[in-house]
Amino acid sequence: MYNSKIIGLGKYVPENVVTNDDLKEWMETSDEWIQERTGIKERRWIDPKTSDDTTSIMGAKAAKIAIERAGLTKDDIDFIVFATLSPDMYFPGGGVKVQELLEMDTIGALDVRNQCSGFIYGLSVADQFIKTGMYKNVLVIGSENHSGGLERSTRGRNVTVIFGDGAGAVVLSREEDNTKGILSTHLHSEGKYAKELALEGPSTGRWVDAIMEENDPDDVSYYPYMNGQFVFKHAVVRFSEAIMEGLKANNLSKEAIDMLIPHQANLRISQFIQKKFDLSDDQVYNNIMRYGNTTAASIPIALTEAWEDGKIEEGDIVVLAAFGSGFTWGSAIIKW
Ligand code: UT7
Repeated sequence: MYNSKIIGLGKYVPENVVTNDDLKEWMETSDEWIQERTGIKERRWIDPKTSDDTTSIMGAKAAKIAIERAGLTKDDIDFIVFATLSPDMYFPGGGVKVQELLEMDTIGALDVRNQCSGFIYGLSVADQFIKTGMYKNVLVIGSENHSGGLERSTRGRNVTVIFGDGAGAVVLSREEDNTKGILSTHLHSEGKYAKELALEGPSTGRWVDAIMEENDPDDVSYYPYMNGQFVFKHAVVRFSEAIMEGLKANNLSKEAIDMLIPHQANLRISQFIQKKFDLSDDQVYNNIMRYGNTTAASIPIALTEAWEDGKIEEGDIVVLAAFGSGFTWGSAIIKW
């Protein structure tokens, strides 16, 4: 059995910055409300007038950087795992488009649909492929174009102000030393809460015809819905559990954590977890202030930035943790 190790990281965010004040163009909100409840100051939203970016294109841009930094070429990649809730098309998923955009050989491409936990699920899948020896280098991408599908009105404000666009990617590679790299991943789900954070239609359960036929102006099932406080309460519990589970599986205490990269859902959630695990400001990386919640992209973007800033060093214990729609949640414990 091999281990797997992250050997290259990259991120891409659209150029267009949307501040909290900019949102007032579409809805009743305030910079004060958004910062106080979420910590967000601004986010990136693709501007279709000036940019061709899509979920797949952003993913491919981040992936290109990760491959270069790994010291590899696209031809060294054996498999693509692509995590998103906002693919360019209903089907096929975004992974195949990355294969095309990066002009890769006809390697396999798998889409992961686990929303905010998507990157950790994707990392876990890639880790298993490498552990068994099936693949040597796997590209894991998280990318989201939220801005194209949010309700830009006061009715949708509790969801719309939170989400941003962007992509992050890593190259996961075979590691012969099994005390290094990804030590373990832990994945969970609780489908009974699927509707607490969801976009219901269009889907086979609520197809376009039905939505059009009803022509109900109050039907916004084609916009994301979130029961914010309910999700928040579950998030703080599940984040903690997933981190504890990962530490326990590796006989590590909370003092062993050098860097925690939490999914960037809400700065208040990150701060709660930081306190719970007695971590200093330097031991938790947050960038939700600048990007909002980028769902599957949030962990790889934050991980890339923490690494670029020199906050992660060889030998560090790095913990990734996420919670979101599904509900799904999970953690990854990495020895860098
Ligand atoms: O990444 C996936 C996981 N997601 C999460 O973990 C998110 C978890 N939830 C949250 O982060 C928070 O619940 C939110 C940030 C989404 C909302 O914060 P909240 O403190 O739970 O606010 P609320 O939804 O209970 O709304 C409080 C008030 C309401 O007004 P009334 O009824 O008290 O008069 C809302 O209408 O704030 C109002 N409100 C807003 N006001 C200004 C909701 N959204 C906005 C807004 N601007 N954008």
